[in-house]
Amino acid sequence: ALRGVVALDGPSGTGKTTVARKLAAELGAGYLDTGAMYRVVTLAVLDAGVDPHDADAVVALARSVRLDVSTDPASPGVRLDGTDVGEAIRTPRVDAAVSAVSAVSDLRDLLVQRQRALIEETARDGGGVVVDGRDIGTVVAPDAPLKVFLTASPEVRAARRGAQDTAAGREADQATVLASVQRRDRLDSGRAASPLRPAEDAVEFDTSELSIDQVLAALTELA
Ligand code: C5P
Repeated sequence: ALRGVVALDGPSGTGKTTVARKLAAELGAGYLDTGAMYRVVTLAVLDAGVDPHDADAVVALARSVRLDVSTDPASPGVRLDGTDVGEAIRTPRVDAAVSAVSAVSDLRDLLVQRQRALIEETARDGGGVVVDGRDIGTVVAPDAPLKVFLTASPEVRAARRGAQDTAAGREADQATVLASVQRRDRLDSGRAASPLRPAEDAVEFDTSELSIDQVLAALTELA
């Protein structure tokens, strides 16, 4: 069984979340989706009519709501004030605002603290934990013994995101999805607080030409 943390970072559409969940299940480890946490706060911000760029209001709101996240790879899920919001956090509306919310430095401090607590708790219970995000190797768990950074071409990532949308019953226009994916990457990579970038000691994988199973096999080997 896995011990310690596997840090899995990269932009969306690289297969990161699917791979992270499967890897965790295979290794009998926990799974933490940190993107879901930023998404839940974004949903709360939008529902409350708060400006995603108003840092103080975003942090105050994040402190006032209850956010629960599962660390079981077999039943991933997130709750906002007790309500299951697993689907509501994956809408274009949240996609469009999440980068602004996640650029708020004080919010990051708050969520990183919770992420570290969840990682510790999960490690105490069952051993290892696979953590999926943008800044896991650089900020959340810089001591992780295995850090992986997944990439893929923007076109491949947009096609994968579009396929996910279609599978979830949402309409997906390829050009719109590509524009949204590229915009989010630009904002996530360009922000001052914990920008998306590989840790110096991360293993980088370009998944453009690889299937999920191929990526999974390579990571299982490394883990
Ligand atoms: O991984 P996912 O696409 O669900 O992440 C949604 C957004 O949350 C990212 O585009 C990024 O803005 C933010 N995020 C972050 N740091 C993380 C995970 C996600 O800033 N560790």
